[in-house]
Amino acid sequence: MAKITASVYTSHIPAVGVAWDLNKTAEPYWQPVFAGYEYSKQWQQDNQPDVVILVYNDHTNNFDFSLIPTFALGMNHEFQPSDEGWGPRPVPPVEGDQAFASHLAHSVIEQGFDLTLCYEMQVDHGLTVPMSLMFGKCDKWPVKVIPLHVNVVQYPVPSGQRCYDLGRAIKKAVESYDENLNVHIWGTGGMSHQLQGPRAGLINKEWDAQFLDELIADPKNLAIKPHIEYVREAGSEGIELVMWLVARAAMCEEGEVPEVKHRFYHVPASNTAVGHLILEAPKKP
Ligand code: DHB
Ligand code: FE
Repeated sequence: MAKITASVYTSHIPAVGVAWDLNKTAEPYWQPVFAGYEYSKQWQQDNQPDVVILVYNDHTNNFDFSLIPTFALGMNHEFQPSDEGWGPRPVPPVEGDQAFASHLAHSVIEQGFDLTLCYEMQVDHGLTVPMSLMFGKCDKWPVKVIPLHVNVVQYPVPSGQRCYDLGRAIKKAVESYDENLNVHIWGTGGMSHQLQGPRAGLINKEWDAQFLDELIADPKNLAIKPHIEYVREAGSEGIELVMWLVARAAMCEEGEVPEVKHRFYHVPASNTAVGHLILEAPKKP
């Protein structure tokens, strides 16, 4: 049986990808950001899964405002980094897992989530920046990845509750797969940030800290938080945080508290508060 053994959460700021690609990680502005991922890169090496289900949002780079699926699963064997305006990031293509993705699609759709299935898809900073932070520089990514896009860019976006319930369905889907796969699930985006309008640059450290506490200890309750609170308290792009609920709901039984392996928070990085967690599922005898 396949099993989700850990989950990872991280912001996905594009400027972090640029700093990484241009070797600026040791500069005084960026050093404290990348320092927060030193533990993570070692943990990742020591706990390499077979597959990562990577929950992220496309920022109208693969999709555009003419068509934005609410939930879209990457079914291909390969996903190229998208050109976000200054050429694709110099990172390897992402290798998919078509057999596992087909199983997930089948099971999750049977459980009532009408996923859009993408047989061709490019992946933007929402996916590739977290990969760089966790795996470092490599010629080939060490794991297979199944991208799961969530619409958080065009209203109406899915509720926290819907994201949480999708996570529950993904857990069931993973555990009904015959192969012995070690699976991690990542939630990306957030934390507080607003990129436009009079409140551009908004950061809410207290709200972010509370979100992290609740995500760890009581995600079921966190799931009922309405969109308006994310937007009011964490800024218009803070809504990306609903994606973290997919990963958290999928990683262990309801009521179980995962082990916190790493927690990191830093302001500023571009316009965003960087938040990062690594949670391991409770070990069963
Ligand atoms: C920034 C953050 C994001 O999540 C994003 O998608 C784009 C930009 C930023 O802080 O610059
Ligand atoms: Fe974003």
